[in-house]
Amino acid sequence: MSKKKILLTGGLGFIGSHTAVELINKGFEVVIVDNLSNTTTEPLDGIEKITSCRPVFELVDLSKYDQVEALFQRHPFFDGVIHFAAFKAVGESYNLPLKYYLNNLTSLSLLLEKCLEFNINNLIFSSSCTVYGEADALPINEESAIKSALSPYGNTKQIGEEIILDTIRVNPNLKAIALRYFNPIGAHPSGEIGELPLGTPLNLVPYVTQTAAGIRSQLQVYGNDYDTVDGTNVRDYIHVVDVAKAHVSALNRLIESENKEDFEVFNLGTGKGSSVLEVIKSFERVSDSKLNYKIVDRRKGDVTAAFADTTKANTVLGWKAEFTLDDAMRDAWQWEKKIRNI
Ligand code: WQD
Repeated sequence: MSKKKILLTGGLGFIGSHTAVELINKGFEVVIVDNLSNTTTEPLDGIEKITSCRPVFELVDLSKYDQVEALFQRHPFFDGVIHFAAFKAVGESYNLPLKYYLNNLTSLSLLLEKCLEFNINNLIFSSSCTVYGEADALPINEESAIKSALSPYGNTKQIGEEIILDTIRVNPNLKAIALRYFNPIGAHPSGEIGELPLGTPLNLVPYVTQTAAGIRSQLQVYGNDYDTVDGTNVRDYIHVVDVAKAHVSALNRLIESENKEDFEVFNLGTGKGSSVLEVIKSFERVSDSKLNYKIVDRRKGDVTAAFADTTKANTVLGWKAEFTLDDAMRDAWQWEKKIRNI
């Protein structure tokens, strides 16, 4: 039987590259599209080292009509599409809102047009827990209120889900699953792929490992006066390989027509909240080192706490996170040492 062919947009990014590995290991043929705005082609080497298969790579800016048109002339058929391609820096999106709206929403809209034109009916959309904003209650489930977005980035995820839903309403063949990530962290246990933040990392874990590696002088902890276990923000940190495996489960759900509705949403988390200080302690435990950090003022836009109710993903999607916080911090540190030749 021929392999099912899957398009991964933004497939050389952090979650995309790890998903490529899981798909190839499950026997899928993968075509990766990326504009290299936030990565390099290095992950292709890592994917090949892990799977002994080098996926087809196409350099494409999905926000440009002519490039999308040419891509689908070259590849007129896919069994499914997983759409990762988007700018995702929350802080940057405050300063460059149009960059985010133009890129994230144009790319999605042009991709959906091609799905309809080429009868590609299975779409997985990379969404985010940021759509919930400061949730009224914890843990956060998929029925929790969608608050007005705290950032243009978060707004592009909310609007993205609405664009997909509106498109499905008038195209009944199209089916989609939105996966709302909590905080993906870590790296592949092989040490061959991981997070490649170009420039100064905005996210906590790469900043922790770069501080330990001596790339950064000190980690700044943004506030310890929140109403939490130790005053620092709480998040649901989930190993990137667990997130990747959820994409395979969601894709199979659509391909096998197991979905109960044409548009479904699943939270991807561990169901456990960890504070910033608990993340630091986890890193110190797995690296047997002391991290240099300082408590500073709060960061604009941070919510106090967010962690997932994973019941729906566990029972309906049949997926459950397996790695622990220590596993993720250990793999993140192994990756940092690898890319810095420490
Ligand atoms: C986590 C905690 C900071 C950096 C991310 C993504 C977003 C979405 C949700 C996918 C916060 C604190 C951070 C630092 C710190 N994921 N922190 N010092 O803000 O939860 O959002 O996950 O869509 O795209 O950005 O993650 O890693 O930036 O922050 O104290 O140098 O770490 O205040 O409490 P966040 P983050």
